[in-house]
Amino acid sequence: MEKELQLTKIRTYIDNLFASDTTGHDTFHMKRVASMAKQIAEMEKANTFICEVAGLLHDVGDQKLFPSTSEALKEMDSFLTDIQLTHDEKKQINLAIKDVSFRKGKQPETLEGKIVQDADRIDALGAIGIARTFAFGGAKGQLIYVDNEAENTSIKHFYDKLLTLKDSMNTDFAKEIAVERHQFMETYLQQFFKEWK
Ligand code: ADP
Ligand code: NI
Repeated sequence: MEKELQLTKIRTYIDNLFASDTTGHDTFHMKRVASMAKQIAEMEKANTFICEVAGLLHDVGDQKLFPSTSEALKEMDSFLTDIQLTHDEKKQINLAIKDVSFRKGKQPETLEGKIVQDADRIDALGAIGIARTFAFGGAKGQLIYVDNEAENTSIKHFYDKLLTLKDSMNTDFAKEIAVERHQFMETYLQQFFKEWK
């Protein structure tokens, strides 16, 4: 099967899986990550097909989103076999998405994994990152903000995670984008607290 047709089928698969997500992990997140991963792969001379596919699939099986990680991954594997991805391609994709999550705190083993991790982290930053964070907070029933360190709020998530991401990028290209988006979040937070007071 042609690579373009495989990609079309994978996009449809992702549309179906994440169609109703309102936690900031919707199908548009997957497509932005895939497109950013492909761009970084071109700069880094990595495998663009693996990066794009892994970008689309990187949140499949995520514990926050799926009742069973192993079931979701098993289902994904048989789908990829159905659309004729080779054993080697599937292995590379699995390696690329295995350690992407921030929560796992791991550095992916392969260049493609590092690239997808960067692309996912970039999507947590800037204007889109801000929108996703409040969407996630709302979906999980968390407050926007309260002046109490002990409470998990969406504003607290900026300090716990989002503002640390620019220093954890694997590639120079991602780092450059992250710096600009980080600056935008700093400006946003200044304005937020000005209005809060
Ligand atoms: P992880 O890297 O831990 O798997 P994700 O990358 O799936 O987490 O999380 C993506 C996005 O979900 C974050 O960038 C953020 O927008 C949102 N998010 C995750 N945890 C929280 C939280 N506690 N409060 C607000 N938003 C969150
Ligand atoms: Ni993601």
